[in-house]
Amino acid sequence: MPFENIIVETRGQVGLITLNRPKALNALCAALIRELGQALDTFEADAEIGAIVLTGSEKAFAAGADIKEMASKSYMDAYLEDFITNGWERVTKCRKPVIAAVAGYALGGGCEMAMMCDFILAADTAKFGQPEITIGTIPGAGGTQRLTRAVGKSKAMEMVLTGRMMDAAEAERAGLVSRIVPAADLLDETIKVAERIASMSRPIVYMAKEAVNAAFETTLAQGVHLERRLFQSAFATEDQKEGMAAFSEKRSPAFKNR
Ligand code: CAA
Repeated sequence: MPFENIIVETRGQVGLITLNRPKALNALCAALIRELGQALDTFEADAEIGAIVLTGSEKAFAAGADIKEMASKSYMDAYLEDFITNGWERVTKCRKPVIAAVAGYALGGGCEMAMMCDFILAADTAKFGQPEITIGTIPGAGGTQRLTRAVGKSKAMEMVLTGRMMDAAEAERAGLVSRIVPAADLLDETIKVAERIASMSRPIVYMAKEAVNAAFETTLAQGVHLERRLFQSAFATEDQKEGMAAFSEKRSPAFKNR
């Protein structure tokens, strides 16, 4: 499928999507968001793919929603097209894990897109921020909610009210990213992590992802209840039998995704 704003490749069992609008620092225009949705649909439907990596360039994961495209929108334009949820949240609907590999700027909608992924690996060059306030608006793709859940109210509030950026070290300390990798190794390391996930049992990966995500949407009691039910249902899979037999027999498991 020919794309103009992204590059789509596979690396073994990993689907790799690279945001590719270098002249606009990967600003997330409507066409890019449409293409991203199509690429995610394709990888979700591909039985060979077990995990997805979303990345940008050395300079920018993405510098936000496309300011030039949205500058002249009226309220009615924004309301009727449901700007900005329309299409953007496709990544949050994936059952397969999606890992963001962030180097350079992840600002505004770029930071929000990274936070919609299941976790973020950051290059030591990464810079995160929600600078919308500096252009007369507020985060519109979940930033006020996901950043606050990730780093707590004080830091999120300061960032959203001032528009200041945080570097990779601060982002790791605050829990926004899972870890920092030297920029030159970011993609290889992220693909390695994605390959490891793809080598696990697919249905068990889905259960694990569903259970962790429930922590954001439920009370503790409801979340623990869902976890227990999913844990119990794992015993209905062939892969649980295989995984535990392989442990006892001191060999690697051969999961069948069943
Ligand atoms: N939208 C459209 N174009 C953008 C862009 C964006 N978000 N970010 C950068 N660009 C374009 C620039 O206009 C410039 O294009 P031209 O060469 O045609 O002028 C090109 O990318 C390179 O950018 P700079 O020359 O500005 O590069 P720099 O290295 O000097 O600065 C930067 C880098 C600090 C990231 C700066 O580009 C910047 O501040 N970008 C905007 C960041 C921002 O405000 N993001 C939030 C957008 S609003 C949003 O995302 C809403 C939401 O919640 C969904």
